[in-house]
Amino acid sequence: MKNYFGYTDKVCVVTGASSGMGKATVETLVDLGAKVYAIDLNPCEVDGITEFIKCNLANKSEIDLAFEQIPEHINCFFGVAGLSGAKTDYRTTFDCNYTANMYITLNYLKTRMSKGGAIVYCTSTAGLEWKKFKKEQNKVVHAKTWEEVQELTKKLAASAPATFAYMYSKRCASQFACEQSVEFAKLGIRINNVLPGSTDTGMKQEFQDMVGSEEGLIAQAGLAGRLATPEEMAYPMVFLNSEMASFISGLDMVVDYTDTCLKVLGLKKNLEAVSATNPIICALAKKMLSKEAKTKALKPGSSEK
Ligand SMILES: NC(=O)c1ccc[n+]([C@@H]2O[C@H](COP(=O)([O-])OP(=O)(O)OC[C@H]3O[C@@H](n4cnc5c(N)ncnc54)[C@H](O)[C@@H]3O)[C@@H](O)[C@H]2O)c1
Repeated sequence: MKNYFGYTDKVCVVTGASSGMGKATVETLVDLGAKVYAIDLNPCEVDGITEFIKCNLANKSEIDLAFEQIPEHINCFFGVAGLSGAKTDYRTTFDCNYTANMYITLNYLKTRMSKGGAIVYCTSTAGLEWKKFKKEQNKVVHAKTWEEVQELTKKLAASAPATFAYMYSKRCASQFACEQSVEFAKLGIRINNVLPGSTDTGMKQEFQDMVGSEEGLIAQAGLAGRLATPEEMAYPMVFLNSEMASFISGLDMVVDYTDTCLKVLGLKKNLEAVSATNPIICALAKKMLSKEAKTKALKPGSSEK
């Protein structure tokens, strides 16, 4: 039988490899015969990987150390790691979701990949409106160094809630993917982007707390009537970086079982069409969220009990 996917012996680097979609991606790639270099904060317990590399992607020096342990020539990169912002600060959330992918792409993938190479980033339907808000992202997406991104997002990191970093970082990543797909096409390297809808992964509880219930989350999964499985996001990523997708580059692949179509058709409210950087909105949201957190913290001992 023809080896349609063409992953045999290919060096594949996967971030966020230890849980959810990243782990499902690793399992699929191992099955397809790839040499998988699994990057994560936590151990990757998948049999058959070539190497696990512990690395905090929100730290530039740790990324540099990680790439010292990876073979010089890389065939495919899967940037899957991400943080919701529910348990981490703005800086960490933004850097893990955006800055790490930008830094790895420009400093390592550009020089260590060659014709036929393929990159996929896992962004989110939360970043779907990136085209509408390009003005908010332009400076950050055009910054070429880690330090420049830190400087440009310094004010936001101090004033906006960490959960706002999620939408903004995903918008930046989608725009970056689009712009870099044009640059990398000159080198024969493809770049695509998968935008998952609600998925049952390690992040589920954090998103559920934000919307209030599991039903609320399922309502964000289009007409599926259930959350997606991690595999249902891993397979599109594995497809996009495979030889089956050799003419696909610059694609925003929305994987949300019609959720976006419902919004386009006006059948569902589009809550993503808001600014992620407006200082008034950011300050108001921060105040509201800290008030909510204080109320929750007081609840167990409150007089109502
Ligand atoms: N679950 C959803 O509903 C959903 C929806 C849209 C997009 N996404 C995106 O999917 C991607 C995968 O997340 P998931 O849903 O599988 O969640 P997950 O929590 O199961 O997996 C995320 C992985 O990233 C790793 N990670 C987090 N911060 C890191 C850091 N600083 N350095 C190294 N590794 C780090 C975690 O250890 C974990 O293994 C993320 O980019 C997320 O934003 C998720």
